[in-house]
Amino acid sequence: MSETILVTGASAGFGQAICRRLVADGHRVIGAARRIQKLQKLQGELGESFYPLQMDVTDLSQVDHALASLPADWSQIDVLINNAGLALGLAPAQEAEMADWLTMIQTNIVGLAYLTRRILPQMVERNDGYIINMGSTAGTVPYPGANIYGASKAFVKQFSLNLRADLAGKKIRVSNIEPGLCEGTEFSLVRFKGDEKRVESLYQDAHAIQPEDIANTVSWLLQQPKHVNVNRIEIMPVSQTFGTQPVYRD
Ligand SMILES: NC(=O)c1ccc[n+]([C@@H]2O[C@H](COP(=O)([O-])OP(=O)(O)OC[C@H]3O[C@@H](n4cnc5c(N)ncnc54)[C@H](OP(=O)(O)O)[C@@H]3O)[C@@H](O)[C@H]2O)c1
Repeated sequence: MSETILVTGASAGFGQAICRRLVADGHRVIGAARRIQKLQKLQGELGESFYPLQMDVTDLSQVDHALASLPADWSQIDVLINNAGLALGLAPAQEAEMADWLTMIQTNIVGLAYLTRRILPQMVERNDGYIINMGSTAGTVPYPGANIYGASKAFVKQFSLNLRADLAGKKIRVSNIEPGLCEGTEFSLVRFKGDEKRVESLYQDAHAIQPEDIANTVSWLLQQPKHVNVNRIEIMPVSQTFGTQPVYRD
């Protein structure tokens, strides 16, 4: 069945791959991000099943205006994919930039919560809808330098589960996708503030997850029957695994 799907963070990485895949699956997709030229380029590729929508998810009045500007036949959103997000820096908490922390909180937490709060009532009214959030393994597995980024993704995980608790008895689904190391996106270039050498060495020979793997996962979630809710889905490349807990001795 064709749905109208709003994907945030559609100008790059996972979001772009998700838009491509969902249009190929026969859906109508609204792609949101700040860089409108990138969205317009994607529209050139995907055609009239794709609607570019400029918004900065940290600017709540901009989100309101963007949503209000949707043409009537695009305004019923059947599926919300809260994918926009970022990590900034990998410094220990005592050295991290406060401005970076605030940007991560505003984007990964406030923006995601606001879009959810704006769109959920129309889903509840129809007693139908699906919210897919983009979490991270960082929301479960602590690692040095993840401080606020990991904590913001722990918020996304618990918020997703709590939404399901509030939606008891309603036919609205919520899933949290939790990827590990992924390449082919701008994520690490943003995190390392344009340091291409650092990005290159992170992914070298790592056979990391690709954006298309995440798009496949979203496509699969949407193909599950409406009585099935996948709460969480954690995905890592085979090359990535868990470590022991270090003990530092005097
Ligand atoms: N790549 C990984 O290793 C990895 C692993 C686990 C989870 N994730 C999560 O997956 C999601 C997508 O990441 P990605 O790897 O695809 O990164 P990416 O290539 O950097 O894409 C991030 C997207 O978010 C958008 N965005 C950022 N800030 C925004 C804002 N204030 N308002 C609106 N849009 C904003 C960007 O668009 P504009 O700049 O045009 O606004 C871009 O389209 C993020 O939530 C990330 O935390 C990534």
